[in-house]
Amino acid sequence: MKDFKDKVVVITGAGSGIGRALAMAFAKAGAKLALNDYKPESLRETSQLLNASAAVVLEQAFDVSDKEAMFSFAAAAVNRFGHIDIVVNNAGVGLGDYPFHDLDLNWFEKVMDTNFYGVLYGSRAFIPHLIERPEAALVNVSSIFGLTGIAKSTAYCASKFAVHGLNQCLMQEYVNTGLTIHSVHPGGINTNITKNSLDYKETHDTFHTQFLKLSPDYAAKVIMDGIRKKKNKILIGSEAHLLDFAVRMFPYLGGRIVNKEIQRKLNRS
Ligand SMILES: NC(=O)c1ccc[n+]([C@@H]2O[C@H](COP(=O)([O-])OP(=O)(O)OC[C@H]3O[C@@H](n4cnc5c(N)ncnc54)[C@H](O)[C@@H]3O)[C@@H](O)[C@H]2O)c1
Repeated sequence: MKDFKDKVVVITGAGSGIGRALAMAFAKAGAKLALNDYKPESLRETSQLLNASAAVVLEQAFDVSDKEAMFSFAAAAVNRFGHIDIVVNNAGVGLGDYPFHDLDLNWFEKVMDTNFYGVLYGSRAFIPHLIERPEAALVNVSSIFGLTGIAKSTAYCASKFAVHGLNQCLMQEYVNTGLTIHSVHPGGINTNITKNSLDYKETHDTFHTQFLKLSPDYAAKVIMDGIRKKKNKILIGSEAHLLDFAVRMFPYLGGRIVNKEIQRKLNRS
């Protein structure tokens, strides 16, 4: 897809971070937007920021893990704009570091609900509309932690591996259609992901300052370039490229090195 002018773009989790940056960048490129977040006030703020670019915006505040709400959103977006060109399933949450044997499974399920089921429902609700277009893009946000496993981050990593797995299947299934599936793997982006994590504590700020350094605008630019170039795998930042290379070349050793470095920087045992 060479040009985003007048394209209809759906973005979940558009109230902050990468989602908001994508909304701003797509609006600047002349796209029409259908935006979601489960925090109505954050979504409103994004829409107010978009007013300056005179973008046409449909907003719906709901939890992406609500299956029915996701299908209603798809219906509302088609009703408003007539068709959909691009869907970015971006909404996601973090969870702090817990040894697996102590992890409350309710937390695990909550992370899966948003990070995996939200993406699954978004994919299932919108793909029937996307495949009606001569050219379309489904952009599902995983993580570098959907490429390698990290100790004490089982819920987040498992949810992001699940998104990665879904993306791999969809890539094969829709290969002969106009729909391109993009699996997005950001490295550390300086967003509100730490403060918005399910169990935020000040101690999590160490992780944030050590690892989350790239700007959300940069992430949005890389994602949009990836859509233009029809790249199935979109890696964001040099750390993501390095990690991807390391774990593909040396699956076990690469993972060990990445883990050791993370645990060292976090002063974890
Ligand atoms: N920031 C990073 O370094 C990083 C790295 C890898 C992957 N990611 C992924 O990028 C995506 C965007 O995260 P971000 O860094 O911009 O974080 P963020 O917290 O700044 O933005 C996420 C947005 O999603 C919304 N959201 C969360 N749960 C939701 C739900 N159930 N329903 C609807 N909206 C919901 C939040 O309210 C928030 O506005 C997430 O999927 C995240 O896992 C981020």
